[in-house]
Amino acid sequence: MYHGFTIHSIVMKSTFNHLSHSTTHLLLFLPLTLLILGCIFYPNNNLLSFFTTSFRTCSTANDASEAPPPFDDAKLNIFFGILTMPQLHERRHLIRSVYSIQTHNLLSAKVNVRFIFCNSIKDEEVKMFLALEITLYGDIVLLDCVENMNDGKTYTYFSSLPSLVSNGHDRPYDYVVKADDDAYFQLENLASFLKDKPREDLYYGMEMSCDLLNGMCGAHNTFMAGFGYVLSWDLVEWIAESDIARNNKTGFEDVMLAKWLNTEGKGKNRYDGVPAMYDYKGNLPEKRNRHDFIPETVAIHKLKADAQWAKTLEYFNVTNILKPYKLHRNFR
Ligand SMILES: *[C@@H]1O[C@H](CO)[C@@H](O)[C@H](O)[C@H]1NC(C)=O
Ligand SMILES: *[C@@H]1O[C@H](CO)[C@@H](O)[C@H](O)[C@H]1NC(C)=O
Repeated sequence: MYHGFTIHSIVMKSTFNHLSHSTTHLLLFLPLTLLILGCIFYPNNNLLSFFTTSFRTCSTANDASEAPPPFDDAKLNIFFGILTMPQLHERRHLIRSVYSIQTHNLLSAKVNVRFIFCNSIKDEEVKMFLALEITLYGDIVLLDCVENMNDGKTYTYFSSLPSLVSNGHDRPYDYVVKADDDAYFQLENLASFLKDKPREDLYYGMEMSCDLLNGMCGAHNTFMAGFGYVLSWDLVEWIAESDIARNNKTGFEDVMLAKWLNTEGKGKNRYDGVPAMYDYKGNLPEKRNRHDFIPETVAIHKLKADAQWAKTLEYFNVTNILKPYKLHRNFR
């Protein structure tokens, strides 16, 4: 129980640490913060209608009473969107815990982790559990789309972001990540990699050749594997305005994204994440982008089973912050 409570309070702090670093203040401001976050991220969402009807503030979501601007000049600002599906509450719980521990301890970067779905949720139970998560964590973004993988969700994600998160700022983030729910990122390593890289025209991920794709992503060029890649903010803005993106949404989402960039000569600051980005090896044979854990890991892909997640978390010492305490003295 205590263990659970600890992680829970970390989640709260990291989500709302722009308001206060003290738990007491946090609790005081919690309802207001939830309301503000709710208004920013779900302006048209009826899940939140109980807020809109209870609090007048929601109707003035665009005035100065909004949350402070996300940009922190002293740090790298990263929007970290995980594309997943509404019904996967349990996986989300794990991923949220894993990143909450990390973002709490990050010194060099401010990483806003958000879960991204389409708003086409029919199931009443799923809606209720989601409302619970929204109320508690405020880390869910609902896009105006029908749930899909290769039918334009990635396009909707990138093209919606500027209007969702800019909040009147030219560059609310340095970088935007698109990650899948079977990937694990070491955020500190991601931040140190990006720290001295260009803030413009950057495209970073596990680089794959387009050679076998019959020109789908542009001949003699590359794409970044879809489980997790990074774009600089200017490219996200470009996608939101681009005709080629709007007219070429369907197909493998990672290949299509590369097609937009490659066709228009974008993403010139292109960095291959291999070997720091790779597939989980397990008992499979090693290859260029599949190998054992390495300390300099930025991202690992193909974490499907709980056992694979557990091995990964163990290798990266994710729970080493667990202090000896009489209520979990015999744990491990
Ligand atoms: C891709 O986008 C371009 C530019 O808007 C357009 O001319 C072309 O028809 C699109 N391709 C497909 C397959 O839709
Ligand atoms: C995890 O902790 C052990 C023991 O302190 C250390 O030797 C190891 O290098 C750490 N692993 C990583 C990936 O940081």
